[in-house]
Amino acid sequence: MKILVFTEKPFAAAAVKAIENTVNASGNEIRVEENGTKADLLKAVVGANALIVRSDKVDAEVMDAGLPDLKVIVRAGAGYDNIDLQAATERGICVMNTPGQNSNAVAELVFGMMVMMCRNQYNGKSGTELKGKSLGIYAFGQVGRNVARIAKGFGMDIQALDVFVADDVMEAEGVTPVHDVNALFSQNDYVSLHIPATPQTKASIGYDLVMQMPKGGVLVNTARKEVIDEDGLLKALEEREDLRYVSDIKPDKAEEFEKRFASRVFFTPKKMGAQTAEANFNAGVAAAEQAVAYLKDGWNKYQVNK
Ligand code: 3PG
Repeated sequence: MKILVFTEKPFAAAAVKAIENTVNASGNEIRVEENGTKADLLKAVVGANALIVRSDKVDAEVMDAGLPDLKVIVRAGAGYDNIDLQAATERGICVMNTPGQNSNAVAELVFGMMVMMCRNQYNGKSGTELKGKSLGIYAFGQVGRNVARIAKGFGMDIQALDVFVADDVMEAEGVTPVHDVNALFSQNDYVSLHIPATPQTKASIGYDLVMQMPKGGVLVNTARKEVIDEDGLLKALEEREDLRYVSDIKPDKAEEFEKRFASRVFFTPKKMGAQTAEANFNAGVAAAEQAVAYLKDGWNKYQVNK
């Protein structure tokens, strides 16, 4: 069987080697194509039985190009908003993600960006510390839990909101559960977003929530740019000179944010959260193993389009 790894954003070289070794050891064939465009993907997917991607868009057109051979798509990572699940289901294609494999990398970046903002982007002026500040974690999944673990080391007070996680699970991690998004924003100096991009969450974080943050509040987004109502956030930053926004991906209106609020915003040029050798290795190898297992006997533990 043929397994295609297609990523616009390349994995670390050691991760590619490990993916190749995993697939070769299983007796399947592997092909890795990086830095590719959608047009490249449409050609490359022809004849592949499994497709491994990162944030690369996999729509009905890509799936149709892969049929009748394409059986499984594995998103080497957590969020699968880049894959048209309905189209996959209609075509009998299994879609899986690799939960937890890159979450520490994303969580570490949250702190890299928080330290950067509380030290005024290292401009030499006196800043503040994270110790003793409060952190609100919005969604207590794999990344949120890693954020809580690291926040304890910084001496932060931690709250989290997640309707799918029981209070005692959070409490066992030393985290205070909150049940209202307004409370999460109004009670925390830092709010870190870990919600997926869904029709319900899109543009859900905007003016009303951000304006409730305490003085000096910092909004940290390592989730998806789509969850932000950019006009609402721009308005809040305009009205509140103390607020700051840091995001692991450029918003659509990045130029406007940067032009108007240069010292109070920071955006990575490309999504960097999962871009570590370790995360690439873990997510890449897990994706390869899952693709191999699905092709062998239909193993589908992490299927997301059931
Ligand atoms: C994820 O959903 O796993 C992260 O956002 C990482 O995405 P990436 O693989 O495109 O870096």
